[in-house]
Amino acid sequence: MKLKIKKINISIVGTGLMGLQHIKAILKSQKANLHSIVDISKNAKNLSKKYKVPLYSNVVELLKSQNLDAVIVATPNQLHEKHTVSFLKNKIPVLLEKPISDNLKSAKKIIDISKRNKIPLLIGYHRRHNSIVSKVKNIISTGKLGKIVSANVLCWIYKHKEYYKEKWRVSKGGGPLGINLVHDIDMICYLLGPIKYVQAFTTNKNRKFKIEDTATVSLIFKSGALCTLNISDTIVAPWSYELTAGENPAYPRTNQSAYMIGGTKGSLQFPNLKYWFYKKERSWWNKILVRKDKNRKDDNTLINQINHFSDVVIKKTKPKVNGNDGLISLKIFAAIKKSAMSGKKVKI
Ligand SMILES: NC(=O)c1ccc[n+]([C@@H]2O[C@H](COP(=O)([O-])OP(=O)(O)OC[C@H]3O[C@@H](n4cnc5c(N)ncnc54)[C@H](O)[C@@H]3O)[C@@H](O)[C@H]2O)c1
Repeated sequence: MKLKIKKINISIVGTGLMGLQHIKAILKSQKANLHSIVDISKNAKNLSKKYKVPLYSNVVELLKSQNLDAVIVATPNQLHEKHTVSFLKNKIPVLLEKPISDNLKSAKKIIDISKRNKIPLLIGYHRRHNSIVSKVKNIISTGKLGKIVSANVLCWIYKHKEYYKEKWRVSKGGGPLGINLVHDIDMICYLLGPIKYVQAFTTNKNRKFKIEDTATVSLIFKSGALCTLNISDTIVAPWSYELTAGENPAYPRTNQSAYMIGGTKGSLQFPNLKYWFYKKERSWWNKILVRKDKNRKDDNTLINQINHFSDVVIKKTKPKVNGNDGLISLKIFAAIKKSAMSGKKVKI
């Protein structure tokens, strides 16, 4: 006889673009149940009817409800601290959308309260729940690429006009750096380790918002490896993790790559997982060979993340991406902004 496992009751706070993705992921997850939603927008009423769950207009009301096991906070970055802290104080585990916050002080406060109350906090860097990323981490760790010398990360996307109707997206903590680049920072730190120095250039001359639309960033890792990150939300191009990983059907997939990681024995492109190497002597005069991973599959990382979060809530496992990981990527983000302002290299 199959034992029926209790599903974790999760409420979604903030049911905009990302909150809605979480609702869909919960409905497909075998480990979680949609408890309710919390939002102040007009559209939230429609969602409450459509998904047949209660709608609360604020966190206090939600906290009075029955059978709540956990929450996902998917409100604008500037509200992350306010919402997350009230749940952690009430001993409710939180999956907090990235970035952890829009500033370092409040990120530290969130982490501190999570630690003091011993309540788990998972940061929503959902790419980490992709089997491609685990494969890449494994290839690097086993030394197949040799010593990692350098990496190149591209995030060139074109965001449509409608996207910018939400003003928080062009306010401090938003923009393609606050919204997209933090994912790449988290990923590259996960793969290559801690960063020592950052130097960056940014511009807002294309979209003419206050917030930057394009940036080039140079990183030096503690290992000695170098890396360049190149991001823009105003370039028509197929090269970004979003458009190549196949994680989210909202982004039609291209067969290109966004990451190149180069070592003394070989290099790796991903998400399309191509490994480049020499069979005989390593020499630019010999033919370089390429091997493609034929077992690559498109993961729904949001469902994987919900399943992982459910295991975290029942204390079966620890968060894969904890508050400290969230703080690290935010520190690098802050250093990028500082370097772009001062024109100087910033030590982490
Ligand atoms: N993991 C990812 O890939 C990913 C992608 C996009 C956005 N995000 C993150 O998700 C979060 C939300 O982004 P979005 O694009 O969905 O934003 P959005 O503007 O589409 O949605 C935010 C929602 O929060 C609601 N809200 C605002 N104030 C509220 C309050 N006081 N109480 C309750 N609800 C409130 C709004 O009404 C809106 O429905 C951000 O932190 C963003 O960085 C993550």
